[in-house]
Amino acid sequence: MIETVHVDLPGRAYDVHIGPGLVSEAGAHILPLLNRPKVAVVTDETVAALHLDALRAGLAREGIEMTALALPAGEATKSWEPLERTVGWLLDQKVERGDVVVAFGGGVIGDLAGFAAAILRRGVRFVQIPTSLLAQVDSSVGGKTGINAAQGKNLIGAFHQPSLVLADIDVLGSLTARDFLAGYGEVVKYGLLGDLAFFEWLEENGPTLAVGNQQARCEAVRRSVQMKADIVIRDETEQGDRALLNLGHTFGHALEAATGYSDRLLHGEGVAIGCAMAFELSSRMGLCSQESPSRVRAHLKAMGMKTDLRDIPGELPDAAGLLDLMGQDKKVMQGTLHFILARGLGEAFVTSDVAAGDVLTVLEDALRGR
Ligand code: GLY
Repeated sequence: MIETVHVDLPGRAYDVHIGPGLVSEAGAHILPLLNRPKVAVVTDETVAALHLDALRAGLAREGIEMTALALPAGEATKSWEPLERTVGWLLDQKVERGDVVVAFGGGVIGDLAGFAAAILRRGVRFVQIPTSLLAQVDSSVGGKTGINAAQGKNLIGAFHQPSLVLADIDVLGSLTARDFLAGYGEVVKYGLLGDLAFFEWLEENGPTLAVGNQQARCEAVRRSVQMKADIVIRDETEQGDRALLNLGHTFGHALEAATGYSDRLLHGEGVAIGCAMAFELSSRMGLCSQESPSRVRAHLKAMGMKTDLRDIPGELPDAAGLLDLMGQDKKVMQGTLHFILARGLGEAFVTSDVAAGDVLTVLEDALRGR
């Protein structure tokens, strides 16, 4: 059964369809958007090997022709050279202003292809077909597109909303357990930031969902996307509430930077550990009870996820070094770090009213536990 979340942005509204079989039905969903039966697909080599034939067949079923560019998989693809290659390729394919580009892959491909679509001929429409859990629940919805700079992640980009998102739950079956659980870090984030009932549902259903229960996966993606859509509708360009989606990211980004954005720590793993630390900091500041961070950690552990700094292999900087890395985060405004803290599970808020000493103590305690 297909679920639909409508992202009701004035003038740029679109649907996110969630469910099984959407890749093979892609043609039927995309056809109404097309001026001519032809699309340009940007993907990566891993996704292409696994799923591109199914997409080609799904489009051909409705008479849609496709050409595809498969870029190397991995974060390094979110940079200038692959962007230049993608835009050049789209121009070579004679993609016109009225055509549609399809982003078929995880967060890297969605961000890169979305940005290429945003700047090609001053903006062409694009469709997201996210293939990772992280991309289905977070990056494919909401219109953030872009690439990384030498100075930091996601520093070059544009808000460019997709015209349609197809989140095919079947595709999640080809993810490694580690990649699936990293994406699940973002799912937990939604419960923790604004919906205690969803977090409690995850405590109950998370384990069955992790081993492949399709219905539970569909429900988890639907509820996550609904929360994201509600927030994006309120604050598309992150002037306020959208920052809530960065729960766990200030600590998480520092840990990602400390591990060189390498295989030692995936983005979603950093977010999960970061969520536990954000609740620890909230508890230390007297905003929520000590039970809250304990319950966050208990759920992450029950899911077999990275939970504490001791779960990150190799050396880490000391607390001052990590605090310094937090200062490089793009959520610094006028020199002040913005944190997402919580008054309880499901009750996050944005604040800059955090003493560096409290953050240092949380980091020192966490490092001592290693
Ligand atoms: N991933 C955070 C956002 O879309 O705002």
